[in-house]
Amino acid sequence: MIEPQNKAQAGAEVELRSLSRFYGSFTAVHDVNLQVAPGEFVTFLGPSGSGKSTTLMMIAGFTIPSQGDVRVDGRSIIAQPVHKRNIGMVFQNYALFPHLDVARNVAFPLEMRNIPQAEVRERVARALRLVRLEEFENRRPRQLSGGQQQRVALARALVYEPPILLLDEPLGALDAKLREEMKFELKQLHHKIGATILFVTHDQEEALTLSDRIVVFNKGGISQIGSPDELYNAPSNRFVADFIGETNLLSGAVDSVNGDNCTIRLPGGARLYGPLRKGFDTPRKSACFTLRLESVRLGDAAIGLDNQFEGVIEEFLFIGNARKYLIRLAPDLTITARAPTQQQGIVLKPGTRLQVGWPASEMLMVESA
Ligand SMILES: Nc1ncnc2c1ncn2[C@@H]1O[C@H](COP(=O)(O)OP(=O)(O)O)[C@@H](O)[C@H]1O
Ligand SMILES: [Mg+2]
Repeated sequence: MIEPQNKAQAGAEVELRSLSRFYGSFTAVHDVNLQVAPGEFVTFLGPSGSGKSTTLMMIAGFTIPSQGDVRVDGRSIIAQPVHKRNIGMVFQNYALFPHLDVARNVAFPLEMRNIPQAEVRERVARALRLVRLEEFENRRPRQLSGGQQQRVALARALVYEPPILLLDEPLGALDAKLREEMKFELKQLHHKIGATILFVTHDQEEALTLSDRIVVFNKGGISQIGSPDELYNAPSNRFVADFIGETNLLSGAVDSVNGDNCTIRLPGGARLYGPLRKGFDTPRKSACFTLRLESVRLGDAAIGLDNQFEGVIEEFLFIGNARKYLIRLAPDLTITARAPTQQQGIVLKPGTRLQVGWPASEMLMVESA
């Protein structure tokens, strides 16, 4: 847990209980249960339409839940209107007031709350310092870059020191380089203010770098909750394995189970040897394994491993310090591997035949649903 530097602003605990939202017969969010600790940075990650924003909007109060409850520090806030919830919000299209300068934009939530002028000035100055825009207080939004405007929106959300901050794809409108910068700023800001942050994104890299925990959404429900490390290294199901990081998903009929391992037969007939998974039922019919790209060994390094094939390079992609290879192992079986650009002397061009292999222990069984 992160220790906030300013305890007065420490975050609130947020709990979602069986939260659901239906639109007619359509289920936008289904039975979401989640407990967020004070000061935690939790990201809702999932494809477009998976229910992330709807969940956030129910926390904010803009959308009324069909079922379930939202609790802050142990008390239900369902009956409270938006402006009474004391929750800061920033959305993807952070509409600033174009006719007001930066300071007035940031002051707006305080003026709404009838805070005395002297205090408004002090708090606006503090919020602008936090987002490093103190020198821009007299500019209009159109005189700022996209990233600076985004920081003004953040300052406006932070200015009344809410114990909860909701951020819905706040970096989505920025170009790649700015987004990268803002990621670091957000992280630093979180350390400084100690607020509980619920952050929505469809970008796995953003989620992995920023979050204490990630909630993976799929089709309106939670697919898995875990730390970035847990989700990357121990995805519980096919969807999460595929959505977080790149992977090969290999599923087939169970041929035999021996001890802690099993052999599966892929549709094309190839056999794979992989470990059973603790906490999972021993599969009787079919099983699915995830195999990370970096686990696939090429050339001599593949010889003698539990799973070994002769493959042919079909395609490669240059990705800076590494290359990604699409390799055909059998008529119905291709896998993707990633290897450092400098492979000891092997030239891996399309058409190259080579040994390809990986240890059983580097495959991980996942639920196929
Ligand atoms: N007001 C609405 N009326 C009908 N359907 C809606 C409404 N709001 C959202 N939805 C639907 O609910 C699903 C989840 O939407 P949303 O929470 O915005 O997804 P996400 O933020 O994960 O992209 C989508 O299929 C969306 O079309
Ligand atoms: Mg959304």
